[in-house]
Amino acid sequence: MPASKNASKSYRPETRLVHAGTLRSDFQETSEALFLTQGYVYDTAEQCEARFSGKLPGYVYSRYSNPTLTMFEQRMAALEGAEAARATATGMAAVTTALMGLVRAGDHVVAAKALFGSCRWVIEEWLPRFGVESTLVHGADLSAWKKAVRKNTKAFFLESPTNPTLEVIDIAGVADIAHNAGAELVVDNVFATPLYQSPLKLGADCVVYSATKHIDGQGRVLGGVILGAEKFIMDNVHQVIRQTGPSLSPFNAWVLLKGLETLAVRVQRQTDTAAAVSVALHGHKKLTRLIYPGRPDHPQADIVRKQMKAGSTLVAFEVKGGKEGAFRFLNALKLVAITNNLGDAKSLITHPTTTTHQRLTPAQRAELGIGDGLLRFSAGLEHPDDVLEDLLGALDAV
Ligand SMILES: Cc1ncc(COP(=O)(O)O)c(C=O)c1O
Repeated sequence: MPASKNASKSYRPETRLVHAGTLRSDFQETSEALFLTQGYVYDTAEQCEARFSGKLPGYVYSRYSNPTLTMFEQRMAALEGAEAARATATGMAAVTTALMGLVRAGDHVVAAKALFGSCRWVIEEWLPRFGVESTLVHGADLSAWKKAVRKNTKAFFLESPTNPTLEVIDIAGVADIAHNAGAELVVDNVFATPLYQSPLKLGADCVVYSATKHIDGQGRVLGGVILGAEKFIMDNVHQVIRQTGPSLSPFNAWVLLKGLETLAVRVQRQTDTAAAVSVALHGHKKLTRLIYPGRPDHPQADIVRKQMKAGSTLVAFEVKGGKEGAFRFLNALKLVAITNNLGDAKSLITHPTTTTHQRLTPAQRAELGIGDGLLRFSAGLEHPDDVLEDLLGALDAV
């Protein structure tokens, strides 16, 4: 299948989101084709043998690859400025595949403490079952990363901004420490989106996404993607996906490809709404705290300026009255939906203590600044005034 004539030029991100990676069949379709097929057939047994041995290029089986997946992977790679990408069934499949591909029994991993609950479980609970030790550090403290390094440290892992307190970690600083230790840095870039932060350019070796979030952006499918240099992907990721099968469905790859076309306009609008919420709610008498990476009073505002192009589509805030106050507020909302997801066309709100970070002990949550009254708001595409009226009205109920 030939690449479309616009597929590989280095246009600006918004243009790459619409055109990069497109492969056209002989039918010359406008929209990307959905190849909903498990496998492929061959003209001869010799051709089949040559395809399997890799002597002849071409698709073999959709656990390994598929033309619709190739389009999604190439579009993501063009957006991220990565040499290679591999799609996975979920964001957690991307995180787990990247980390498990990188380490062996006897290795050690250093990660930031402030992680999405499942990522923390993989590092704290699951890797040790395979003989991989881990140390969790306060991510914003570069000296803590340095101190945690051991002779057998192979991988560093972080997300920035973090879930749910929107702490921002100095990616270039952590990458330097990792490389001096002979380790590789994997960054979960979900909260920043590929539009606002480019970890590979800041020195990271691998970037992972839950495509379930802003990339789909309309609450339909789960997906993930792993990006890095060709060598990183071939050495650590390619065989793991091929042999263990955390592969993305072609249908979901097609939905995500179409999601990418509108990513820039959606994220821009969501950021504008999140910024407006951060202004309207800041200093509100029913709140004890508000965190937004676009604000000058953000604890890492200098790093935000250094490594991010814009704030965020998310705002975190803590209502007075702990869990009871938070629940009263949530139950008074009429438009913003209570859920654990983010990055959707619909404005969403999450109570981390009882959902995404339920597994942590109260002491572990307190260490991360996750109080019982903390809420994480994800801006949608509604009219910003309707969202603001809903949030302010519900605060009256607290
Ligand atoms: C920061 C972060 N990483 C990874 C994931 C996992 O993504 P998925 O739900 O697609 O497996 C999430 C999901 O909530 C997330 O917030």
